[in-house]
Amino acid sequence: MNRYTSTAKSLHWLMALMIVGLFALGLYMKELPLSPAKLQLYSWHKWAGVTVFVLLLARVAWRMTHRPPPLPWQMSRLHQQVAHAGHLMLYLLMLAIPVSGWLMSSAKGFPTVWFGVLPLPDLVGKDKALGELLGNLHALLNWTLAAVLVAHVAAALKHHLIDHDDVLTRMLPARRTQIKENVQ
Ligand code: HEM
Repeated sequence: MNRYTSTAKSLHWLMALMIVGLFALGLYMKELPLSPAKLQLYSWHKWAGVTVFVLLLARVAWRMTHRPPPLPWQMSRLHQQVAHAGHLMLYLLMLAIPVSGWLMSSAKGFPTVWFGVLPLPDLVGKDKALGELLGNLHALLNWTLAAVLVAHVAAALKHHLIDHDDVLTRMLPARRTQIKENVQ
């Protein structure tokens, strides 16, 4: 099979949308003066961030049980290795970013209550200096993710516009004609 499953595609695009939104929200909310609105945005950021973490666990479980389509045979071995290393980095960053945010909130003494309903355990005790350090780590990991994402999008566009292969299109929603072809 040369396409991703609908589940893999849905998780990919849902998480992409959420991560870009969380990135923008994180930068915006941090600069606001202290107010009830700021605290509300912090809660939404934390709830959505934990949701990304849960979706990531589901995605990794799916990925381990559903082999993705192979990369085009025309790609050199080196290019294939670079692509796999890039994907591994994206998975590691998608894991490390929410975990660093959760750790930071615990260290700063602001427990996370998921959607205001489910209290999550504090991963570390209150520690101001550690909280500052984890805040810097959270920001650094985010900027690293931004750089890897730019490379990821550029690579997808190169495959589509220059190499004219199916690497980008097979991650897009199936068109009706393709669905028909698959059914027949
Ligand atoms: C994929 C998930 C996430 C993304 C993409 C993300 C992104 C960001 C970004 C870009 C910032 C601004 C960083 C800066 O310039 O200093 C930020 C700040 C913050 N994030 Fe996240 N975040 C995520 C998950 C989480 C989670 C799960 C939590 C907590 C449970 C969290 C808690 C925070 C807090 C408290 C801040 C503000 C830090 C401060 O005021 O110094 N984040 N986040």
